[in-house]
Amino acid sequence: MSNTNQQVRLAARPTGTPGPEVWEHTTEPVGEPGEGRVVVKVSHLSLDPAMRGWMNAGKSYVPPVEVGAVMRALGLGEVVASNSPDLAVGDVVTGLLGVQTHAEVDARGLQKVQPSDAVPPERYLAVLGMPGATAYFGLLEVGELAEGDTVVVSGAAGAVGSIVGQLAKIKGAGKVIGIAGGPEKCAWLTEELGFDAAIDYRNSDVAARLRELTPDGIDVYFDNVGGEILDAALARLATHARVVLCGAISQYNATEGIHAPANYLSLLTTRSKMEGFVFPDYAHRAGEAAQALSGWLAQGRITAREDVVDGPVTDFGEVLLKLFRGENTGKLVLRLP
Ligand SMILES: NC(=O)c1ccc[n+]([C@@H]2O[C@H](COP(=O)([O-])OP(=O)(O)OC[C@H]3O[C@@H](n4cnc5c(N)ncnc54)[C@H](OP(=O)(O)O)[C@@H]3O)[C@@H](O)[C@H]2O)c1
Repeated sequence: MSNTNQQVRLAARPTGTPGPEVWEHTTEPVGEPGEGRVVVKVSHLSLDPAMRGWMNAGKSYVPPVEVGAVMRALGLGEVVASNSPDLAVGDVVTGLLGVQTHAEVDARGLQKVQPSDAVPPERYLAVLGMPGATAYFGLLEVGELAEGDTVVVSGAAGAVGSIVGQLAKIKGAGKVIGIAGGPEKCAWLTEELGFDAAIDYRNSDVAARLRELTPDGIDVYFDNVGGEILDAALARLATHARVVLCGAISQYNATEGIHAPANYLSLLTTRSKMEGFVFPDYAHRAGEAAQALSGWLAQGRITAREDVVDGPVTDFGEVLLKLFRGENTGKLVLRLP
C-alpha cells in the first residue's frame, strides 16, 4: 500500500488544559495488515472527555497512553486491506483506531456497522456507540431508574447527558431536569428533547434552582461534571437516591487538587448510594443498548445530535478543547477529509 499514515502522538503529559505542546504530528508509510488484522482508513474520530484522563500517568480503568504513542481514540472508517476472514475490503467498522488516518488493527476488536441515508456514520460513535451505551447502562442499571423518579442530569446537552434525559422520559421518570451551560442549550433540552426543565449553570444559582424544581428531592442524579454542581445535587437527594458517577469534566484539567463533594453526608442521612461505573464493563452488552436506542430513534422518540467538525487529523488537539469550553452540543466528532 502506498498511502501515508498521518498520526497525532502524545509528546508530553499535560498539566492543566492540554495545549499544542502536548501533541506531535508524525507520518509513516501504511503497512500491510498482519495475520488476523486489517487496515482501516479512518473517516471519523470520536472526541471524548475521557481522553484527558488517558493522558495522565498512573492507575485508572485503562492504562495511560504512553508518551510517544499514537493518541488513543475511538473511530470509524472503511477497511482498505484485510488479512482476516472476518472483515472484507469496503466494510465500515468502529473501534479503537487511534488519532491517525490509517489504523492497522486486530479485526477482532472491531464492530461492523452499516451507515445509511437514515443513519449517518457519526451516529455510530454517538447514540449508537459508546456514549449511548454509557447513558443506557448508567441510568437503567447503575441508576436503577424507577417509574415516577425525579431525575437530574448534568452535562445534559452533551453526548451522554442528552441521551440520559430522553431515556429517562421514555422509561417513565416523573420529572427530568437537565443542567447545561447557556440559554441555547437549555432551550434545546426543554423545547426539542422533552426535558421538563433545564438549569443554565453559567447564569443561575444551581442550588437555588434545584430547591425550586425538586420539592420532593432527587431520586437519580446522573453526574457528568462533578465539582460544585455535584455538591448542589447531593444537597437535594431524596431517600434511597442513586447518584451515578459517570464523569467529572469540571475537574479533569484541575491543577490544584479536585473539588471534593462537601455534601457527601447527605448520602448517609438519605440512605442513598453513589456509584461509579465505566463503559468498558458494559462493552460486551453494547449491542443491547444500540438495539434499544435505534428502535427509539426510528420511532422519533429519541433525537440524536452530532456536532461534526471537518478538519485534518492534525486539528485533533484544538478540536478536543471544545469539550472543555462547552462549545459542543451533542456528540463531538472530527470528520477527516
Ligand atoms: N463512565 C464512562 O464510561 C463514561 C463514558 C463516556 C463519557 N463519560 C463522561 O461523561 C461526561 C460527558 O461526556 P460526553 O462525551 O457526553 O461529553 P459532552 O457532554 O458531549 O461534552 C462535554 C460537556 O461538558 C460540559 N462542561 C465542560 N466543562 C464544564 C465545567 N467546568 N462544568 C460543567 N460542565 C462542563 C460542556 O457543556 P456545557 O456547555 O453544558 O458546560 C461540554 O459540552 C464526561 O465527564 C465524560 O468523562 C464517562
